[in-house]
Amino acid sequence: MTAETEALLSLQPIEELQPGSFDEARQLIDRCMRPEADLSMSLDFPLLVGAEARARRLVVRSEGRIVAHAAGRLLRVATPARRSFALFDIGAVCTDPAERGRGHARRLVTELLQEARLAGVEAAILWAEVEGFYEKLGFAPAGLETRFLIEPRRLGLGQEADVWPLRQQEIPDLMRLRRQDAFPVRRSLDEARILFNIPRCETRVALEGGRVVAYASLGKGLDFQGVISEWGGVPELVPALARDLMLEFGLEQAMVMGPTWDRRYLRAFSALGFTPEHTDMAMMTVLNGRRLRQALQPHFEQPLPAGDEDLAEALFGRSGLTPPDRVLPFFVWGLDSV
Ligand SMILES: CC(C)(COP(=O)(O)OP(=O)(O)OC[C@H]1O[C@@H](n2cnc3c(N)ncnc32)[C@H](O)[C@@H]1OP(=O)(O)O)[C@@H](O)C(=O)NCCC(=O)NCCS
Repeated sequence: MTAETEALLSLQPIEELQPGSFDEARQLIDRCMRPEADLSMSLDFPLLVGAEARARRLVVRSEGRIVAHAAGRLLRVATPARRSFALFDIGAVCTDPAERGRGHARRLVTELLQEARLAGVEAAILWAEVEGFYEKLGFAPAGLETRFLIEPRRLGLGQEADVWPLRQQEIPDLMRLRRQDAFPVRRSLDEARILFNIPRCETRVALEGGRVVAYASLGKGLDFQGVISEWGGVPELVPALARDLMLEFGLEQAMVMGPTWDRRYLRAFSALGFTPEHTDMAMMTVLNGRRLRQALQPHFEQPLPAGDEDLAEALFGRSGLTPPDRVLPFFVWGLDSV
């Protein structure tokens, strides 16, 4: 396509999605991203595209109809020095099949990134379902994640725990455990309540002396079926939590995800005979390198690269290329990912 043709086809302006059009956008998103599904994406991703979304949502209209959508939600990450940096979490990028190949999705994501850059946001992050699309927009794999395919029988050989279903009044305890991370993504109580109540997300807590010392969450709508994408607290108790969840829901196999740099997590599951699979956590692009360096260089032993291109990889690592002891202990857990 020549630039001229593209310019003609791309005349539709980008608009901010207004509350009156949330339903129309929901229909487009579900039609594009999960046409056969019985659960709307607005329910698995409530803070991005749900009725209570706290996100920047942009659309393209053609003849009055919404034909493309993209959203970004700001994640604020605390640092051990009581500073923070921001990540713009991008998702629900979709274009009506009849309108594809006209640059709508590219323009929407580019606009979101540009707004975030101007607002001083340090970096953007996403979980891509299509290969090639986001690389063209500057994203590259970043962060270290390790997964284990697990089965209940061998989980029973691990440390025992006093496991219970999560009660709503324990959500602040889960937030307390989450804040023990070196670089936690901040969640308000209200946001945590919404996230732990996503449909088809089941959370179990491990108690010691009546106190919550660990938790694990299985599933998240249709997004993480059969996957424990978030856990917190004592890593050695996660196998017992996982076993309880799997037995309760009749799962013979499940997947648990966690940070590669967390040796206790790796040991807890490796010791039970499960094989680690190392992978990238997400895709990222740096938007304001100077600010990101300022926030994170004090916590990083090596000098950081001068250019922005390799900065995310230097800070957070890249699977197979960076040893886990050379990265910052940062991880985005499943309930925050879009
Ligand atoms: C992926 C999707 C959003 C692309 O929308 P679109 O408006 O057709 O994309 P654009 O026209 O802006 O394409 C921009 C670039 O990405 C490329 N691209 C488009 N779709 C792609 C795909 N599925 N895989 C790889 N590259 C793709 C285009 O070739 C184009 O490259 P160019 O800039 O070199 O010409 C659309 O196909 C869609 O809605 N898919 C279903 C939902 C989905 O999977 N969303 C992604 C979530 S991560």
